[in-house]
Amino acid sequence: MNTKNICVLVSGGGTNLQALIDAEKRGELGSGKITCVIASKTDAYALERARTNGIKTRILIRKEYSDIASYSKAMRDILFEEKADLIVYAGFMTILDENVCDAFPNKMINVHPALIPSFCGKGFYGLHVHEAALTKGVKVSGATVHFVTAECDAGPIILQKAVEVKNGDTPETLQKRIMENAEWKILPKAVQLFCDGKITVKDGVTIIKE
Ligand code: GAR
Repeated sequence: MNTKNICVLVSGGGTNLQALIDAEKRGELGSGKITCVIASKTDAYALERARTNGIKTRILIRKEYSDIASYSKAMRDILFEEKADLIVYAGFMTILDENVCDAFPNKMINVHPALIPSFCGKGFYGLHVHEAALTKGVKVSGATVHFVTAECDAGPIILQKAVEVKNGDTPETLQKRIMENAEWKILPKAVQLFCDGKITVKDGVTIIKE
């Protein structure tokens, strides 16, 4: 199978990027190769992780664009330049519009730190997601990997993994448990399934050939 170029979009610490890098080193991304990491901020620690591992980095600063449409077009052009076969949002905190989503249908995936359709959509990102889960008092949360569409967190679901909420959890402890037990496992797995051609989408629902 031909190598698939994976572009990873990041905004922060990049622990999910690290999980992908580690999976690739173990030979667990199928035909996928992380060829470029694109950050929305110059100080994203994820860039350090990419550089340490010899992966090309690019920076597209959100604040330098007046609106989301112009930012999305610039991102689309970079992704074309990089010949991206798969785009992974790994803690990427900007919602790109249809200029990108329509150019890469069912070729962009995102990891979200809750069980969609709970605690998702605009405003639900990072620790806010876990704060909302604790405020509601859910006993189970988790993570979801899904295809990205122009509607935030609404694209076809690929994989989900549940994680227990424990007494005394803070947003930080819950985030850590969900990252370690769910996100860092299902994100590389979803990338592997994609690169192995095992995901199809029909009527907004994915079918996974295991
Ligand atoms: C992760 O928990 C990811 O699921 C979340 O931000 C964190 C990034 O951590 N993403 C979102 O909330 C997107 N809606 P990382 O930079 O260490 O991978």
